[in-house]
Amino acid sequence: MSKNIVVGGQYGDEGKGKIISYLAIHDKPEIIARGGVGPNAGHEVWYKGQRFPMRMLSCGFVYENARILIGAGVSVNPDVFLKEVEMTKTHGRAGIDFRATVITQEHIEADASSENSARIGTTKTGCGPAVSGRAARTAKTIADYVAEPGHEDFKKYVTDVPKEVNSAKSVLVEGSQGFMLSVYYGTYPFCTSKDTSASSIAADVGLGPTKINDVIMVIKAYTTRVGSGHLPEELSVDEAKQLGFQEYGTVTGRPRRTSKNLHWDNLRLAAMINGATQIALTKLDVKFPAVAGVKKYSELTSEAKSFIEIIEKEVGIPVTLIGTGKDAEDIVDRRK
Ligand code: IMP
Ligand code: MG
Repeated sequence: MSKNIVVGGQYGDEGKGKIISYLAIHDKPEIIARGGVGPNAGHEVWYKGQRFPMRMLSCGFVYENARILIGAGVSVNPDVFLKEVEMTKTHGRAGIDFRATVITQEHIEADASSENSARIGTTKTGCGPAVSGRAARTAKTIADYVAEPGHEDFKKYVTDVPKEVNSAKSVLVEGSQGFMLSVYYGTYPFCTSKDTSASSIAADVGLGPTKINDVIMVIKAYTTRVGSGHLPEELSVDEAKQLGFQEYGTVTGRPRRTSKNLHWDNLRLAAMINGATQIALTKLDVKFPAVAGVKKYSELTSEAKSFIEIIEKEVGIPVTLIGTGKDAEDIVDRRK
């Protein structure tokens, strides 16, 4: 029985969705709660052959007995939320904290038209302007939203997330974005609009630091980033394609920028500030195709095993979960 947080250790798109969906199915937490910025996130889940691109709701929806909540610190686009509730058929168990910030059409338009947003290469989902609005104390909360005429049907989704997560025995908290996109610790000003480290994610859902058991930092076997800002050892699209590393954004469809390597100084800093206790490594099968679908550590190739050993040595944290394919179940789980 525990309260664990999953965060991204790179520039987002590390494969948090896949790790969350695996942990949801196998650890069966009572509640899965989403922290982080908002619908700028694109978490992809492949479950039973179907792809679910998630932006608001937690990827933990795949565990059908869990409450699926969105914390007070998250900016919410009610239309995106409703669409995802529909897609995942989670009407009876999805909820949003009444204090969460509402993203309005004005926020989206401001994000799409501002020169600074273009310079940063934002996702144009209105997240930054909503966070600004909250800081300026002009933004609406979900409580304000449901009090407006026409939004009565939305009331059933409104809840008190801190109360729920603090009275539950087991909670899985889903962070979004990645450490290098933190507004404090990332590549400022080329970053997102909030801190993305575990402490902030915990606060987003109303869990105090003493309540957290494990912080699982997700890293991909290579590095990608979308939008502007420095990416060490960046490859050309052709080089990335040749290696099989070229990816496209879940939210924006933009080609992701790629770097072949892991950047140890960044990962050590991410591990330190997140207080990470475990690493989940994803897309090992993209780096080493021979490990595709492997579920036992002993069946990994020696090349793949030495890569994992290097990560453990360089970052100083055990690699406990290893992704070997896109399905939620394609995982080597060394926690067993
Ligand atoms: P914003 O969060 O939409 O304001 O975008 C700011 C920067 O963060 C841009 O470079 C985005 O591409 C990046 N970003 C925001 N959310 C994510 C994410 O979930 N994955 C990857 N990059 C992201
Ligand atoms: Mg993503």
